Amino acid sequence: MAYSCTSLLLLSFLILYGSLPLSQSNQFCDAGVGYTESTCGFSSTSSSKLLIKGGTVVNAHNQEVADVYVEDGIIVAVRPNIKVDEDVTLLDATGKYVMPGGIDPHTHLAMEFMGTETIDDFFSGQAAALAGGTTMHIDFVIPVSGSLVAGFEAYKKKAKKSCMNYGFHMAITKWDESVSREMEIMVKEKGINSFKFFMAYKGSLMISDELLLQGLKRCKSLGALAMVHAENGDAVFEGQNRMIDLGITGPEGHALSRPPVLEGEATSRAIRLAKFVNTPLYVVHVMSIDAMEEISKARKSGQKVVGEAVVSGLVLNDSGLWNPDFITAAKYVMSPPIREAGHDKALQAALSTGVLQLVGTDHCTFNSTQKAFGIDDFRKIPNGVNGIEERMHLVWDTMVESGQISVTDFVRITSTECARIFNIYPRKGAILVGSDADIIIFNPNSSFEISARTHHSRTDTNVYDGRKGKGKVEVTIVGGRVAWQDNELKVAPGSGKYIELPPFSYLFDGIDKADAKYLSSLQAPVKRFSAS
Ligand code: URP
Ligand code: ZN
Ligand code: ZN
Repeated sequence: MAYSCTSLLLLSFLILYGSLPLSQSNQFCDAGVGYTESTCGFSSTSSSKLLIKGGTVVNAHNQEVADVYVEDGIIVAVRPNIKVDEDVTLLDATGKYVMPGGIDPHTHLAMEFMGTETIDDFFSGQAAALAGGTTMHIDFVIPVSGSLVAGFEAYKKKAKKSCMNYGFHMAITKWDESVSREMEIMVKEKGINSFKFFMAYKGSLMISDELLLQGLKRCKSLGALAMVHAENGDAVFEGQNRMIDLGITGPEGHALSRPPVLEGEATSRAIRLAKFVNTPLYVVHVMSIDAMEEISKARKSGQKVVGEAVVSGLVLNDSGLWNPDFITAAKYVMSPPIREAGHDKALQAALSTGVLQLVGTDHCTFNSTQKAFGIDDFRKIPNGVNGIEERMHLVWDTMVESGQISVTDFVRITSTECARIFNIYPRKGAILVGSDADIIIFNPNSSFEISARTHHSRTDTNVYDGRKGKGKVEVTIVGGRVAWQDNELKVAPGSGKYIELPPFSYLFDGIDKADAKYLSSLQAPVKRFSAS
């Protein structure tokens, strides 16, 4: 928990004297619509003091009309009628919501995958995120030749151009003593508290059940969260061959080759193995009723299983994959696949009732040229869709505007729960005194429209192209600085911040007690005498 002494001292001063200190107003470069990497930067003389006036401050647990005062990137006061001198930067939020910036738990920026690299890097992807109200994301480090240390160093380099908060998960792609040792280094020295196991992508990232078991045990001992991409990779391989034999080579073959039953099977297997080891499990990108029901069953039984929805699964269906235009169809190819209509609504209901706990994007963008690698064979279409910029708007419109969840729930599933699971709450995911000033001003009476022509991602297509809805992120503040305002990005490569994620989140509470109970429940071994 990062409540600095400075903040607390400052707060005492404010309470005593009833006014907040002065500062110069913020001056950011004006990059116009869009952004430029080389010239646009935060002014070195920019103010570090901001007052957001008159909005409805929303946290996961309550909402109230209050002002928010920020200094040096930290929230130092949240209460009505804060008085400041004229030269503190003022933002009027009357009639609007003031909420924690979004945290996206699942992204792939600059990832080498399927013979190419995702088109959004740590600058363009993050700029897009900020334009959509997301102030932190957690990206997946892919090891280099199985080495976690080498993978971490490679991602540190990629992330040098960052312009917002980011953290890392780490994928585990092979198993030996050195991987086990490096997992400890990642957790104890590098700020990583989660490891992802791919149960699919046979021949590249896929791991065996034996590896998964070893990995689950190691995660448990380190207080790290095990994450799974749950699809039966061997059966997917079989399904792909089946489609090719049938002459189905287009993008629709992708969905047909890996049906929901394979996602349900792998989800169930991972859940059972995590239960056997007695360690928490996080299932990424839940795309089907089959997988969601396995999570629901496990959670009802008391098992610590987290289910992550992604925007594509919540708001799209598979009809696009049957589009006669290859590029239009190929842009929807991701894994697990976007499912037929019905799964989307069921996943929304699961999110609103707490069966699924948070929403990510799995932002993993490839442009049309890259998608065309699979023009004759769906198996070669790089898997992945966009979403980092669209997530907050689409979740608001789909879940809040439809009446399925409250505004406080919106904050919980887009920000707070992610911060709790990855053990950085209340530094992140909250508008509280002492929290980092990652804040959005959201106008529920405005509207948004998504277009590949105006989005900030580098990709030339958008799976949500043409979608309109209610609500608009009007201002994004990251680390106390305004990064998005008046439809303009004010961002600088290199201004981002790596957020270390500590082990042993709340999900590990009680694990040791359950282990002790299990051990004491075992009957004493039967003493037998040899027959002779
Ligand atoms: O299609 C997807 N999801 N691409 C990114 C890699 C993964 O499986 O998360
Ligand atoms: Zn995955
Ligand atoms: Zn992913």
